[in-house]
Amino acid sequence: MSKPRVVLGVGGGIAAYKACEVLRGLTESGHDVRVVPTEAALNFVGAATFEALSGHPVHTGVFTEVPEVQHVRVGKEADLVLVVPATANLLAKAAHGIADDLLTNTLLTARCPVAFFPAMHTEMWEHPATRDNVALLRSRGMIVTEPDSGRLTGVDTGKGRLANPAEIVDLAKLLLARPDALPRDLEGVRVVVSAGGTREPLDPVRYLSNRSSGKQGYALARVAAQRGADVTLVAAHTVALPDPAGATVRHVSTAEEMRQAVHAAAAEADVVVMAAAVADFRPANRADHKIKKSDDQPDPVITLDRNADILAELVRNRRSGQVVVGFAAETGDAQGSVLDHARTKLKRKGADLLMVNAVGDGKAFGTEDNSGWLLGSDGTEIPIPLGAKAELASTLWDAVVSFMKR
Ligand code: CTP
Repeated sequence: MSKPRVVLGVGGGIAAYKACEVLRGLTESGHDVRVVPTEAALNFVGAATFEALSGHPVHTGVFTEVPEVQHVRVGKEADLVLVVPATANLLAKAAHGIADDLLTNTLLTARCPVAFFPAMHTEMWEHPATRDNVALLRSRGMIVTEPDSGRLTGVDTGKGRLANPAEIVDLAKLLLARPDALPRDLEGVRVVVSAGGTREPLDPVRYLSNRSSGKQGYALARVAAQRGADVTLVAAHTVALPDPAGATVRHVSTAEEMRQAVHAAAAEADVVVMAAAVADFRPANRADHKIKKSDDQPDPVITLDRNADILAELVRNRRSGQVVVGFAAETGDAQGSVLDHARTKLKRKGADLLMVNAVGDGKAFGTEDNSGWLLGSDGTEIPIPLGAKAELASTLWDAVVSFMKR
């Protein structure tokens, strides 16, 4: 199979240096990337850097390699076009069909998904001209992602920061696998997603926890934010993951902290997805000092207390019309298959949807992929083939959207 062909357009903003990391992430995961910077972008990163990292020559204008008709060919041959960073100027040109360099020509000739990753000062992002240009591009089926909030150039902070490069690579792979994965069908929908594994302290330095990486919950929050939802991510402990652009993140540690944060956010939410691995038990006593071993004393015995089942509480206190989604990690055994256990759990938990992952043998925990079934309380059973966690996230949001329409 030939490598997927990605055009990486680079706009003239300081965040252009982060395009190098996106480029590296894509080439290292087997993509053929052609970089098309604007003239202004080359003020920030030299063409030689893009050429060395992509293995292809880099041009900005339409008057190089003229017989190759590059201004048409580059766009037509692409499987995906990304613009990283998309400046206010580039969004304006794209919205109005201005084609005065190789990148803007490419945007007009591409027939594959085109995704802009904006980066600009908050004032520029919020200006009515930019708002209108973004709306126009989205109305034509182009993807203009939500920028991150945080530190901008100089002393400013606010909305308009480029999404994290790892997140851009993840969304690019999602669009290559599923060109229709990011419709703006969750605009105005308030979503809560929990992620990661809780830690239940034994003493100031030790805790009980689990192997959850948080990747699935983060992918759900990321995809929902890019489909237009107002997302609160309640994150327990995860491997190092960038905060999803466009989401509000609340960091928690214990199951009880997660419980408080999820219920506070759920009180206003239309959809709650419990993807977190919440500890079912916590040590009954938390020592104030580090527990010491001693030859004179018997070894300590840990007694456990039961934590509240947050999902069950959500189902009990559900607002009218609220959709509640649970996750279940299951293994088959002598009593039944993964699917048998999952059907029973869906009934027991009373959730609207239950995403069931088959676990064991290295499956699901910490990996990039997931598989299983998505079970609905209406009897629907959608098999989820092995695929990236972002792909599973987009299938889950499709199911939530059809649930909300009923
Ligand atoms: N969950 C929760 N609160 C807990 C434990 C789990 O909200 N204290 C949620 C998880 O986030 C997940 C779902 O419940 O969405 C399923 O968790 P799981 O541990 O698989 O189910 P249990 O009810 O604990 O069943 P089991 O007996 O199989 O452990």
